[in-house]
Amino acid sequence: MTAAALPVAVVTGASSGIGAATARHLAAAGHRVVLTARRKDRIEALAAELAEAGHQATAYALDVTDRPAVDAFAASLDRCDVLVNNAGGALGADPVASGDPEDWRRMYEVNVIGTLHMTQALLPALTGSGAGTVVVVSSTAGHATYEGGAGYVAAKHGARVLAETLRLEIVGTPVRVIEVAPGMVKTEEFATTRFRGDTERAAKVYEGVPDPLSADDVADTITWAVTRPPHVNIDLLVVRPRAQASNHKVHREG
Ligand SMILES: NC(=O)c1ccc[n+]([C@@H]2O[C@H](COP(=O)([O-])OP(=O)(O)OC[C@H]3O[C@@H](n4cnc5c(N)ncnc54)[C@H](OP(=O)(O)O)[C@@H]3O)[C@@H](O)[C@H]2O)c1
Repeated sequence: MTAAALPVAVVTGASSGIGAATARHLAAAGHRVVLTARRKDRIEALAAELAEAGHQATAYALDVTDRPAVDAFAASLDRCDVLVNNAGGALGADPVASGDPEDWRRMYEVNVIGTLHMTQALLPALTGSGAGTVVVVSSTAGHATYEGGAGYVAAKHGARVLAETLRLEIVGTPVRVIEVAPGMVKTEEFATTRFRGDTERAAKVYEGVPDPLSADDVADTITWAVTRPPHVNIDLLVVRPRAQASNHKVHREG
């Protein structure tokens, strides 16, 4: 297939973790991938690595909370078949009584409004593709709460509701909506960002857990769902490590 004929997959938050792994997996599965994130150097390096391996990949620096920038990005695309709304994350782990409202706002902005911006801007192209896919990377935090998690949990519930509602609203159009809700995934930056660079506290999240999920595990799951035939809609895929039976019940050794 020529490059122009390959389905185009846009991945947000492709500069690290699950997003970067998803870009690699979707490229290997035959997509022309468009990598977006704020850190241009990282997505450019990944696009170069993928091109070197014979894949079609481009990088576009983008903050998903910036609507004019998102609209300009959408206008720059010649087609879009898959949108993976992965950009997001947590800030802090404070109880409701003392959580910083600014953290809550920022989490809502990136996890919910960012997903809304991207989905609204790319929906016409996804529909025009004749077989579009919207993926929302939510979290098990979008399905059950835990102490200290309310700000993130509330934002991920918002992302989940966006996915569920969109599916209802666009039924009958050639676009499906897939929610992937990962549990504990050991990525380089997620917990460090959450705890504002405190790597010791971040390491404790995964302490003693035999095999937390990797970014590759989640990317594999996303890619499986995306590569089902277009009439097959995987509404929701919850994926956790075997050692995690629920948000609260985690098996730790040592
Ligand atoms: N790790 C876990 O345990 C886990 C579990 C369930 C769900 N998740 C979800 O999975 C997704 C990826 O998590 P991860 O573990 O791979 O974390 P990560 O490595 O911290 O990745 C977050 C990505 O989001 C991007 N991002 C953040 N703010 C952005 C913005 N305003 N505009 C555009 N991009 C932005 C970051 O790139 P830049 O900084 O370069 O912009 C980065 O590429 C997140 O939505 C997270 O909530 C993670």
